[in-house]
Amino acid sequence: MIKEAGNQIHFVRQVLMVFFITLPLIMSGYLFPQKAAALNNGLAVTPPMGWNSWNIYGCNVDEDKIKQAADAAVSSGMKAAGYTYIVIDDCWQTSRAVDGTIIADPVKFPSGIAALASYVHSKGLKFGLYTDAGYTTCAGRPGMYGHEVQDAATFAAWGVDYTKVDWCDHGTLDPQTRYSIIRDAIANSGRPMLFSICNWGVNKPWIWGPVTGNIWRTTDDIFDFWGRVTWIIDQNAPLANFAGPTLGWNDADMLMVGNYGTGAVFGEGMTDTEYRSHMSMWAIMASPLIAGNNLASMNQATKDTLMNAEVIAVDQDALGKQGVLVSDVGGLQVYSKVLQTSGTRAIVLLNRECVIEYDGEFCKPWIELRGSS
Ligand code: GLA
Repeated sequence: MIKEAGNQIHFVRQVLMVFFITLPLIMSGYLFPQKAAALNNGLAVTPPMGWNSWNIYGCNVDEDKIKQAADAAVSSGMKAAGYTYIVIDDCWQTSRAVDGTIIADPVKFPSGIAALASYVHSKGLKFGLYTDAGYTTCAGRPGMYGHEVQDAATFAAWGVDYTKVDWCDHGTLDPQTRYSIIRDAIANSGRPMLFSICNWGVNKPWIWGPVTGNIWRTTDDIFDFWGRVTWIIDQNAPLANFAGPTLGWNDADMLMVGNYGTGAVFGEGMTDTEYRSHMSMWAIMASPLIAGNNLASMNQATKDTLMNAEVIAVDQDALGKQGVLVSDVGGLQVYSKVLQTSGTRAIVLLNRECVIEYDGEFCKPWIELRGSS
């Protein structure tokens, strides 16, 4: 009797423990995320693909470099591989006119943004432009605060198809409220624009992102070294439940593939094996694929990585499931992504540890990506 009563108490205690452990997870949406209707602009049924100026050029961006990127996107085969958007990041803007209209740098963009957008469109590509939800951008240029409707109208008039909205100089502003105001300004501009929320994971944008934008950054910035890539993977991979065709996508940040330490952001570069691993992990995590290298001077290894049709197909699979970590034994990890074709999934085998000698060097990741049933 005493033993039975003891068992019952033990059972009740266990039930209570499970309840108290799972309750916060349920309430925060990790176990059963709310399937809120996504921002209904139909622009990111699969993760967006394109190119962005920041990782390679930083603030040193101009009209010629954007035209060169658009030309090279076509001639290199990147456009045919699915990379559609050509996005100017920070530093295209200098000030505001007396009436508040945002002004592009007349020296670096002498033809103006509308003409550049037209050039990009003439190549069969789409055009993207960066701004910031706060008072100034991360490079200290004018931000959108107080000019949301005006800037959305200007972007629409210029022919912008995609806007990346950063989170610098936001003061005490609440990200969900800020990005909702910008979402509405874009929606009322009359031009469909893919809305990229770039607030580095602050206040869990994967929870409010689906009703606010098409993609949301989940971490701080990527840099050009392998440790930063794995740091992002570890934060982005657990968020799989929050992404999908009717929700939007966890944005693990722009690709670093092919920069080899020559870009504008921090890092000594990666090996081709590391760049391949980075690309494969972004694909299995259904992240946006936004290249960040010089498209006009890509070597063969970079082309092979960025334009690997099978890897891109994994990222773009219509079922839209973000892959998950299914096994981790001493840093030997297996990620699995269920695909649309019944009974198939993609697998990434990622070696996080220094256990094998690889090309005569130690401590290189080893990765393989293949579809299997
Ligand atoms: C932030 C963003 C980057 C880039 C820069 C531009 O750091 O996260 O992706 O846009 O600002 O200043």
